[in-house]
Amino acid sequence: MVNKAPISTFGKKSTPLPSVGKVLLSKQRLKGRIKELASEIDKDYANKNPLFVGILKGGAIFLSDLAREIKSDIQIDFMAVSSYGASTKTSGVVRILKDLDEDIHGRHVVIVEDIIDSGLTLSYLLKNLKSRQPESLEICSLLRKKNTQKLTIDVKYQGFLIENVFVVGFGLDYHQKYRQLKDVRILENPHYNNGY
Ligand code: IMP
Ligand code: MG
Repeated sequence: MVNKAPISTFGKKSTPLPSVGKVLLSKQRLKGRIKELASEIDKDYANKNPLFVGILKGGAIFLSDLAREIKSDIQIDFMAVSSYGASTKTSGVVRILKDLDEDIHGRHVVIVEDIIDSGLTLSYLLKNLKSRQPESLEICSLLRKKNTQKLTIDVKYQGFLIENVFVVGFGLDYHQKYRQLKDVRILENPHYNNGY
């Protein structure tokens, strides 16, 4: 998520950040599941030289672990999209902040994302990337929330289905913090602001 929301007072001494709660997914569980996903992808994409498209910033950590478990040839590229504000949350307007370097026409593409919540970001990305006529286009998302999907999205490679809680760590942030945590944790009482 590229957070365009005003940071407001978070991070300043007067407003302490919420404490980071209990571990939802330990680093061992993450590692194990990532290995499984990698071997599924290896099986499906043998000799296809897929292009992994990591969605910045959250997807970068997952992608870097996933890619290192893949045995076949892959390539890596990144995209950054803006998070929608409260007013655009239902319309699904997403702005591209950094586009791909690679031309994906005729390529086998796998979008690598950290989490699917409403599905708005990914449905926009799917539409956008499909119009560039890749040979195939699939999604690999580490997490997906159970109850909040507004849109039906076909996720071929899914790490974990989780409850509707706000999570941080392993790439996921809260106001740009906690991305470097080795496990995924539940952030209690996040202060929702402009979407997140
Ligand atoms: P969606 O468009 O509602 O599916 O939201 C997707 C984006 O929102 C993700 O790529 C994340 O950047 C962000 N997001 C959704 N849920 C969480 C969460 O629990 N923690 C941190 N970021 C989240
Ligand atoms: Mg994201």
